Amino acid sequence: MSTILVTGGTGNLGSLVGARLRAAGHEVRVLSRRSPEFPVDLRDGAGLDAAAAGAEVIVHCASSPRGGDDVAAGHLIGAARRAGTGHLVYISIVGVDVVPFGYYTVKRKVERMLEESGLGVTILRTTQFHDLVAQAVGAAAKLPVVPLPKGIRVQPIAVEEVADRLAELAAAPPAGRVADMGGPEVHTLPDLARAYLAAHGSRRRIVTFPLAGRAYAAFRRGGNLAPGQAVGRGTFAEFLARAAEK
Ligand SMILES: NC(=O)c1ccc[n+]([C@@H]2O[C@H](COP(=O)([O-])OP(=O)(O)OC[C@H]3O[C@@H](n4cnc5c(N)ncnc54)[C@H](OP(=O)(O)O)[C@@H]3O)[C@@H](O)[C@H]2O)c1
Repeated sequence: MSTILVTGGTGNLGSLVGARLRAAGHEVRVLSRRSPEFPVDLRDGAGLDAAAAGAEVIVHCASSPRGGDDVAAGHLIGAARRAGTGHLVYISIVGVDVVPFGYYTVKRKVERMLEESGLGVTILRTTQFHDLVAQAVGAAAKLPVVPLPKGIRVQPIAVEEVADRLAELAAAPPAGRVADMGGPEVHTLPDLARAYLAAHGSRRRIVTFPLAGRAYAAFRRGGNLAPGQAVGRGTFAEFLARAAEK
């Protein structure tokens, strides 16, 4: 059994990964800015060496769409080297190499930093989690009509299945970039929004509008999809049904 540091271990994905690793008998350390155990801001790195000392594996789930993930990765790579960590597992997103969207560009940069670090690394790219789609549609659904970008398709996946796979990868030797994981079905965003609205008893109207820019064009081309890797099992409809039971 190993000592495993989970960055972002308080987050949606990281908390599930930590639970799985703990259940498998590993000693899990949880790091995030607000973690009671290892309260570290990876962008400044203070306290990171103490968190990484003795960790054989680091699963890197911490991320902020507001920026700084590349700076954080630099600190993490340095700490992993100093600690002699043999394996760093990173969760990335399908399309980071073809969709020039700011957050994705930084995640692609982090992938490259890890690949070039000389450390043992494993990189898994997945499509969007069901929760993210629900959050995005839920935010739009607060308006009198539900505005959505036109022509976007999504292939959402259950975060629990991504956590299963990350826990499995963390317990195995470094594997480099592994096969992408996509959700079981590709849907248009309005179709997913209609399912969300129906599940929430809302009859709001959806309006779609085009956007400008290269990132939007790349999303429209399906750069965020992995139809050949539709390995996820849980559907968005099942996610909505489960959420309604809670
Ligand atoms: N959501 C998706 O659809 C999706 C799809 C594919 C891949 N991913 C990737 O999966 C990962 C986790 O996503 P998630 O949805 O679980 O995110 P999340 O719920 O927002 O969790 C992010 C975690 O990172 C921590 N964090 C953020 N900034 C930090 C910093 N500067 N230093 C230390 N910790 C920091 C947060 O805790 P504190 O706030 O306490 O710091 C939190 O624990 C991300 O890398 C994301 O790109 C997500």
